[in-house]
Amino acid sequence: MTTPACHNVALVTGAGRGLGFAIATELFKAGYRVAVTDADETRASTAATKLDPSGKEVISLPLNVLQKSDFESALIAVTEKWGGVGVLVNNAALTRTTPVFDISPEEFSEILDVNLRGTFLGCQVFGKAFASLGYGRIINMASLAGQNGGAATGAHYAASKGGIVTLTKVFARDLAANGVTVNAISPGPLDVDLVREILPAEKLAAVTKSIPVGTLGSPSFIGQLVVLLASPAAVSMTGATLDANGGLYVR
Ligand SMILES: NC(=O)c1ccc[n+]([C@@H]2O[C@H](COP(=O)([O-])OP(=O)(O)OC[C@H]3O[C@@H](n4cnc5c(N)ncnc54)[C@H](O)[C@@H]3O)[C@@H](O)[C@H]2O)c1
Repeated sequence: MTTPACHNVALVTGAGRGLGFAIATELFKAGYRVAVTDADETRASTAATKLDPSGKEVISLPLNVLQKSDFESALIAVTEKWGGVGVLVNNAALTRTTPVFDISPEEFSEILDVNLRGTFLGCQVFGKAFASLGYGRIINMASLAGQNGGAATGAHYAASKGGIVTLTKVFARDLAANGVTVNAISPGPLDVDLVREILPAEKLAAVTKSIPVGTLGSPSFIGQLVVLLASPAAVSMTGATLDANGGLYVR
C-alpha cells in the first residue's frame, strides 16, 4: 500500500486545552498539519493561533463530537484545505467525579454520549473515509479508569473509557485490510489543568503519592505516543491499548 501525501494531516478533537492541545503541539512539532477542533470554538481558535500564528500549518474548526455532521463537515473542510486527512485523534471527553449512587440517568447518558458515542462517530466517519483512501491512523484516548474502574472519576466516565478500548478493537479489526490502524492510549492521572480542577490540593498530593513512579503523567509524552502511532511506520500495531499510568495498573 502506498502512503498518501495527506498522511501528515491530523485532526484532534477536544484540542482547545489540556491533553488535546499537548497532542496537537507534538504533532505540529513532528511536522504534521493539524486541525485543532473543539466544541468550544474560541478555545480552539486561541489554541491554534498559539501553535501557528500564520495559520498555514494549523487551523481551528468547531467540532462538537455529539454531532455526526460536525465530523463530516470538518473532514470536508480539512480535505479542501490540505487535500485530505491521514490521522484522527479522538480526544474530546467530559470528566465527572459524581459518586456512583448520585449519578442521574441523564448525567450517565451525557457522559456516555460525549465520550463513547463521540469516539464511535469519529471512528465511523473518518474510518470510512480512511478505508476509501486505503490509509489512515486513528488514535482514541481511553483512560486507566476504563481498565481498573478509576479512583477519582465517576462510574459513567470509567464505563465510557472501557467502552473506548472495546470500540478500538472493533474498528481495528474492520479496517485492518484497508491500511487503517486504530489504537488507544490509556493514561493515568496527568499533569493538566483538569486534574487540578477536579482534585482538591490535598487529594492531588495523595493521588500523586500513590503513583508508583511518584509523578503525574506528562501530557507531552502522551502526545509523543500519538506521534508514534500516527506514523506510516506504525502499520503493524492495531487494536492495541498503550498503558501510560506510572505503574498504577500493571497487566
Ligand atoms: N487529565 C487526565 O489525567 C486524563 C487521564 C486519562 C485520560 N484522559 C483523557 O484525555 C482526554 C483529554 O483530557 P483533558 O484532561 O485534557 O480534559 P479537558 O476537560 O481539560 O479537555 C477536554 C476538551 O474537550 C472539549 N470538549 C468537551 N466536550 C466536547 C464535545 N462534546 N465535543 C468536542 N469537544 C468537547 C472541551 O472543550 C476541552 O477543550 C480525555 O479523553 C480524557 O478522558 C485524561
